[in-house]
Amino acid sequence: MEDGAIERVLIEEGRIRERVRELGAQIARDHAGRDAPLILVGILRGAVVFMADLIRAVEAPLTIDFIAVSSYGRSTKSSGVVRIFKDLNESIEGADVIIVEDIIDSGLTLSYLVDLLRRRNPASLRVCSFLFKERERDHDLVPIDYIGFRIPDEFVVGYGLDYAGFYRNLPYLGVLAPGAPPPG
Ligand code: IMP
Ligand code: MG
Repeated sequence: MEDGAIERVLIEEGRIRERVRELGAQIARDHAGRDAPLILVGILRGAVVFMADLIRAVEAPLTIDFIAVSSYGRSTKSSGVVRIFKDLNESIEGADVIIVEDIIDSGLTLSYLVDLLRRRNPASLRVCSFLFKERERDHDLVPIDYIGFRIPDEFVVGYGLDYAGFYRNLPYLGVLAPGAPPPG
């Protein structure tokens, strides 16, 4: 599966597992004593793997929902235009909502989603991202409440993150070799 396309492993499976456990415990602790129902909202499709592991690490009653969005390609990302392919199934009004994202790159997708979901009157709205890319940003970022790992500004795949739709099923996080063609 790696066939030279993965330049190196950035975060091993065991480290991911450990960190996800910590995040889950932290989310449960932060929610303790709250009356509002806890809803984790996964951003399709990149957050699916992280979401599946994270929810099993949260020892508190919770429900899940998903939203599918897409930016209009790299070149137009700065416009912050995001298209919703699939909206939430349930209302989030009065709920403690945690948006679960795979990676914060420019942060524009997330800003858009936070604005959108805030208008639906949740009791609280927080963000949990598996990865946070350390890079320059020419705009303000929305606060990220939970971050799994801070990574350098490189293109990464695995643990849900894709390149041209592939590599989401790698159990670790890897750096894609420059110029690697998509498999298949
Ligand atoms: P943002 O709006 O620039 O923060 O875009 C974030 C989205 O771009 C993420 O949800 C990913 O789907 C995608 N993305 C950004 N960086 C990477 C990467 O290194 N590997 C794979 N996908 C990425
Ligand atoms: Mg994504």
